[in-house]
Order: sequence, then C-alpha cells, then structure tokens
Amino acid sequence: MSLAGKHILLGVTGGIAAYKAAILVRHLCNEGAEVQVVLTQGAAQFVTPVTLQALSGRPVRDDLWDQEAEAAMGHIELARWADLILVAPATAHFMANLAQGAAPDLLTTLCLASDAPVLLAPAMNQAMWRDAATQRNAATLAADGKRLIGPDDGEQACGDVGPGRMAEPEALLDAVRAAFQSPRLADLNVLVTAGPTREALDPVRFLSNHSSGKQGYAIAKAAADAGARVTLVSGPCGLPAPANVECIEVTSALDMHEAVQARAAEQALVIGVAAVADYRPAAKAPQKIKKERAAQNDASVALVENPDIIASVAALPNAPVVVGFAAETENALDNARRKRRRKGLDAIVVNDVSDPKIGFNSDHNAATLIWADGEVELAYQGKEALAASLIQHLANLFFPSSGEGAGALAKPTPLSVAQSGRS
Ligand code: CTP
Repeated sequence: MSLAGKHILLGVTGGIAAYKAAILVRHLCNEGAEVQVVLTQGAAQFVTPVTLQALSGRPVRDDLWDQEAEAAMGHIELARWADLILVAPATAHFMANLAQGAAPDLLTTLCLASDAPVLLAPAMNQAMWRDAATQRNAATLAADGKRLIGPDDGEQACGDVGPGRMAEPEALLDAVRAAFQSPRLADLNVLVTAGPTREALDPVRFLSNHSSGKQGYAIAKAAADAGARVTLVSGPCGLPAPANVECIEVTSALDMHEAVQARAAEQALVIGVAAVADYRPAAKAPQKIKKERAAQNDASVALVENPDIIASVAALPNAPVVVGFAAETENALDNARRKRRRKGLDAIVVNDVSDPKIGFNSDHNAATLIWADGEVELAYQGKEALAASLIQHLANLFFPSSGEGAGALAKPTPLSVAQSGRS
C-alpha cells in the first residue's frame, strides 16, 4: 500500500527516541506521504527543527502561539489537513495530557481538534512505563480509540532492560500503512470465547484452570480492529473488555455453551479460545461440603462431561467458520490436526503450553495455525501482535473479499459495550 498523497502529521515529543523520528520522516516521504512535523518543546531538546524540516520539506511547527505560522495555516486547519496523526515517540507526560483531554501545547491541541485516527508509539524508561499512572493512561487512550504501537521490550538508552523502547520506524511505517487499509472483517459478526470456566462443587468451591484470558481478549480486540462486530463470551478472568467489543460474562461451561448457542446463528466466524472444563461435578452441593461428610464418601467427586461448545457450533446447519485452540503439552501438531478433524473445525491454532515462555499467564505466545489444506507458523511474539496476525490469516483464508471497497480510514469510535459492567 502506497502512502502517496496522504497527509501525515508526525508529532515528536521529548524522549531520546526522538532521533528515530528523522528516519521515520524519511520512510514516510519515500512512500509518497506529505509529512508535517510538530515538535513539543521537549522534543526540540533532542532533535532540531532544521533536520526534520530538511527531511520533510515543510517548516516544522512547534508553537501554538506562533503568529506567522498560524497566519499561514491555523492549528484548526492543520488538524483538518491531517489524514492521520502519529506521535512517535510519545512520552509518559504527553500520554497523561492526552488521556486527560488537556491541551497545553500545539501537539495536544491538534490531537484534540482532529478527527483523524491517532497512533501513539510510547517510549520511556521501563519503570515509567510500568508505573500505575502510565498504565492507567495507556488503557484510557486505548479505550478512547487511540492505537498504541509498542513499546518494545529490550535494552534502553538509560541502561535499563525492559518494556519502554519505541517501536522501530519500520514497524511504525507498517502500522501507518495498515491504518489506511480497508478493515479486513468489515461488518462481519465474530464471536470469541475466552478465559477459564468454573465448575461449582458447592457454594464456595469450584474446579477451574490457569487460563488468563489474555490471548482471547487480544483476539477479540484484533477482530474489532479489523472492522468486525465482536461478541466476547468470557469466563471469569478479571480483564477489562476491549473497546468496541460486546462482553458477555459467564461462569461455567454450561453458561458459556448457552451464551454461544444463543448467538451462533448470526455469526460469520466463531473463535474458541476459552479453556473450557471438559467435566463438571455431577451435582453442586446446596451447602458447603463439610470435611467429615467428604471423608465418609471417600472424598471423591463424581464428574459428568460438559458439552463441547465449538464442536456444537461446527455441527450446526449453516455453521459459521469455526476456529479452535489447542493447548497441548506433547505431540502438539499431530494432536491438533486430529482435534481439528474430530471437532469438525475449519481451523485450529495450536501452542505448546509446556514451554514456560508462552504458558497460560505469559504475555507472549507462539503457535501454528492449521486448516484443511495448510499450516502456517505464528512466530514467538506478544499476544496482541499474534492476535493481529492470526486475524489477518483468517481473513485471507476464509473471507478473502471482505473489506474490499469499504471506507479506508475512519477514526475508531471510543465505544466500549460492556454489558456485563466489567470495564
Ligand atoms: N472447547 C469447547 N468446549 C469444550 C472443550 C473445549 O469449546 N467443552 C474448545 C476450546 O475452546 C478450544 C478447543 O475446544 O478451542 C480445544 O480445547 P481442548 O481443551 O484442547 O480440547 P479437548 O477437546 O478438551 O481435548 P483434550 O483436553 O483431550 O486435549
């Protein structure tokens, strides 16, 4: 996708990664984009306007009160001129202002005044990124429809190691290109199951598993980002519902089964990421089971099998495309290939959960996508990036013409439909 003729407003804020803005301007201009650089005061400490002006071919803007620049193109005009705003690097301070809707300088004012999508590339010291306030601001910005790219993990300019490095200019260029592409699942209904289920033994005890829900939530978010209307049917995992996703909270496998069956007919795609308990206690004791009574019964629990939620969807007449997950600890690929056929699935994503790097609670994952005629590896990466890549593969495989002719770029609606009240 070429960026010919696209108006990109590149905001640069005051962090050491500002030097990479020069490379970014170069890449964007090489793709044919018109780039207007806006510097904050802090950014000007790290990189000079002259460098960015020479590379972009346009005078750099850095002052809301610059009468000459305002006379040439006022800040509201500039906000309207932009097809997309990219802030790279975005400091913790800048993110805090934007999350509050504060507009103390030209760049924050432009972000508020523009209808264009805003992409942010956070960059800061790892402790600043991990700080509760920054995390809160990042979550607010994402919920408001801003797209956060990165930060990457690794060695930092200050000598620390951890999350906070700005995403590389090439990755930012990809994100800008992707923002102008038609949404791949535009107007399709997608249902995702996520998290664990809880199978009650008595009013205070249950059987469950270690699923964190992170991968399922990331897939729901990636499907929404690709333009789908997404319903997330989630077991208890305490994660906030992603923006633009309808979240239905359930507890047991039977609840999840019922919620999915009720909505299956209207779906184009169902992705089962939930770690559903295969069995539940045959009966839930009405009162807490006392130790003495349990001992009299050999302390054993009778179990009955739960319905297979995604296999039931795949068996429906006019079934949607159904994709399952297989968390395996041995012979992963062979087990998954058999599981896909046994459950009648269109595709299955398999990962080896015995690997501690990609286990249930990790933020990273690596997997293989298997369908009837092929397989593709999804390399080790963050769960969000893997989710985006999986959604692109599923769109290519099962909905190749979806999104064609759809509007290219729209500011995402900051709407979170959390029916459940979880937010
Ligand atoms: N799944 C489901 N309903 C169930 C059990 C599993 O929808 N009752 C779905 C999961 O969401 C996942 C896929 O089936 O997408 C595979 O789950 P897994 O637990 O690996 O499969 P099982 O059939 O339970 O096989 P096994 O535990 O023997 O490996």
